[in-house]
Amino acid sequence: MAKIPPKKIISPKPFLKKPILKKPILKKPVSKPEPKPVSIADLVKELNSFNVDNYWDLGKFLVDKVMPAARKQGLFEEQVMKMISSHPGAKFPFSVLKQCQQYYAYYPDVKKRPLAEVFYFELATKVNESRKREQYEKMALENKWTISDLRKKIRDDETARRIDERTKYGFDLRERNVWSFDTPDPRFGKPNTKGRIPGQIVANALYFYTNSGDYIVDPFAGSGTTADILDSLPFFSDRRWKMLDMNPADERIIRNNILQMGIPEQSASVDYLFLDPPKDFTFKDSTTDYDVSLEAAKADFVLKFKGIIRECARILKSGGRVSIICEPAFTPSGYIDFPNELINLFKDAGFKQIGKVYLPTHSGESSTKTTQSISDVKGVRMLNSDCRELLTFQKN
Ligand SMILES: C[S@@+](CC[C@H](N)C(=O)[O-])C[C@H]1O[C@@H](n2cnc3c(N)ncnc32)[C@H](O)[C@@H]1O
Repeated sequence: MAKIPPKKIISPKPFLKKPILKKPILKKPVSKPEPKPVSIADLVKELNSFNVDNYWDLGKFLVDKVMPAARKQGLFEEQVMKMISSHPGAKFPFSVLKQCQQYYAYYPDVKKRPLAEVFYFELATKVNESRKREQYEKMALENKWTISDLRKKIRDDETARRIDERTKYGFDLRERNVWSFDTPDPRFGKPNTKGRIPGQIVANALYFYTNSGDYIVDPFAGSGTTADILDSLPFFSDRRWKMLDMNPADERIIRNNILQMGIPEQSASVDYLFLDPPKDFTFKDSTTDYDVSLEAAKADFVLKFKGIIRECARILKSGGRVSIICEPAFTPSGYIDFPNELINLFKDAGFKQIGKVYLPTHSGESSTKTTQSISDVKGVRMLNSDCRELLTFQKN
């Protein structure tokens, strides 16, 4: 971050002296003058005259002059700053304009405050809550902090907040719809098992889509990831569950081939199903299969999943939910939107979609390598999928 030097007052040229669009000359006098249009090119010229490190003055210019003019024309603050920063020749990126605007908006009186300006810049851009900013200011004064002390304290508090959030439920809670985890939580699932997903994905799905006392079934239990979570996290201790798989990894998992036996549960008895089907249910993962026709691949997929979804509809209670992990496929013969196929199948079976979460895959996962080798063999230019989707549906 740029250092903030002693205050240097730069008075920008009057704002919007020459509007770009000339209005037609009106013959009759009008009661209220029209607001002058914002000329982004003029703004960029003015903003570029600021020194990179004179953030307070830049913020003042944005808050006092640019924003009121923009508001008069019905533009939002962020919109204007994005327009300015993406204009050819603009010197300041959006993030810097935003920081400057926040800095001046929070501390218009910075010159009368007791700490050095750099402290307030740090507070304005790193701490959202005004009460917290006041507390940090007080602590910095009382303890005679350096700027490094303040930065460290803000960082440590943020880390503590995250740990606290994690331990509140026992796992990394995600509140947005992209769940990306660099490494699987070692407590859940068996290491080096093919197809094992980060347990954090399952824990978040259970958090968002199940309730106290729910009965949960995982028909593709694999290395026991779901079982480990339900077994060990106190937050889920009141859930009941059953794990099934064609190749059970331990004694908690019951042997079952879903394609032959369906899901061996009573009708209308299950609250939540977590489905993480094997890769070969969606796309043949052998290099010899790259010529498979798209229609044949889709037909095979639909056949398998129609049966599975019929079983989901049978065993779920009314209002019960099912989450399924799925990924689109890029093949030399075309793109197959498997998630979309699933959405249609679930809708046809009387479910409504209640969620969609993106699950970026991380390096070293097998699917990426296989598809890459196909494109190498064929010498074709082809994208690979690096993102699975977790779709969730509710039975009507
Ligand atoms: C992607 S893995 C599931 C991984 C699991 N979520 C985990 O984290 O360990 C898919 C699982 O489906 C199982 N499977 C494959 N075909 C099956 C079938 N016809 N019926 C039941 N399970 C099957 C495989 O044995 C594998 O364990």
